[in-house]
Amino acid sequence: MAFLDKHKAIETHATLLMVLSLLVVAIGGIVQIVPLFYLENTIEKVEGVRPYTPLELAGQEVYLREGCYVCHSQMIRPMRDEVERYGHYSLAAESQYDHPFQWGSKRTGPDLARVGGKYSDAWHVDHLTDPQSVVPESVMPKYGFLSSVKLDGKYIGARMWASSMVGVPYTEEHIANAVVDFAAQVDPNADTVGLLERYGKVNVSNFDGQPDVTEMDALIAYLQVLGTMVDFSTFTPDASR
Ligand code: HEC
Repeated sequence: MAFLDKHKAIETHATLLMVLSLLVVAIGGIVQIVPLFYLENTIEKVEGVRPYTPLELAGQEVYLREGCYVCHSQMIRPMRDEVERYGHYSLAAESQYDHPFQWGSKRTGPDLARVGGKYSDAWHVDHLTDPQSVVPESVMPKYGFLSSVKLDGKYIGARMWASSMVGVPYTEEHIANAVVDFAAQVDPNADTVGLLERYGKVNVSNFDGQPDVTEMDALIAYLQVLGTMVDFSTFTPDASR
């Protein structure tokens, strides 16, 4: 057949085959990628998802610095065993404001995407200080030193500004109030009206139970908000997508 003869010409010329293959792959790639540039948003907006408060963001910094992601992922896959163990599968919007994202592919310890609210603040202090005191077989290292590193939150405004450069919706007001909001979240007696107005639902607590504001407070504030921003009793996925 004439068609097959022509095909033979392609298959017997390595260079021609390569050039034509590249062309076909390039067209396929363009068809997939170009429409993404014309979509306004590739992430479905979900109610409740907000940027981290200054204290939570400081906690995420500690999390990154200490390499917690080496042992913990933050992404619940939509598979039955994962959903039964950890809760509702992770939504893209839930890690929308994470820079860098913390999905991870290594789980020496459990996934932490929904660890917020699972334990009390005091449990976290005990566990981070000496994991084996609460889970005897744990291989998690001890992080008690975080309790003695004081934080004043003065630097976090600059970090928020950097986040805003890559699309996190921190406004000038958020950044200007960074230090005030940082201190308010960790003091149950503080005036939190401004903090709540700017961020919505926020856990206000003296996370580590000690008078000073430390890296321990910040890290626990961060852990306690993970996976709690979306109310899954009312959330319905947008089926039109
Ligand atoms: C060497 C690996 C390793 C590192 C590094 C590590 N963890 Fe863990 N983590 C574990 C293991 C294993 C467990 C399960 C046993 C336990 O609860 O201690 C765990 C459990 C946890 C839990 C309880 C989760 C649950 O649902 O019960 C939290 C919270 C946690 N880790 C936070 C952290 C934080 C925060 C850091 C960084 C400061 C960190 N981990 C670093 C291994 C690690």
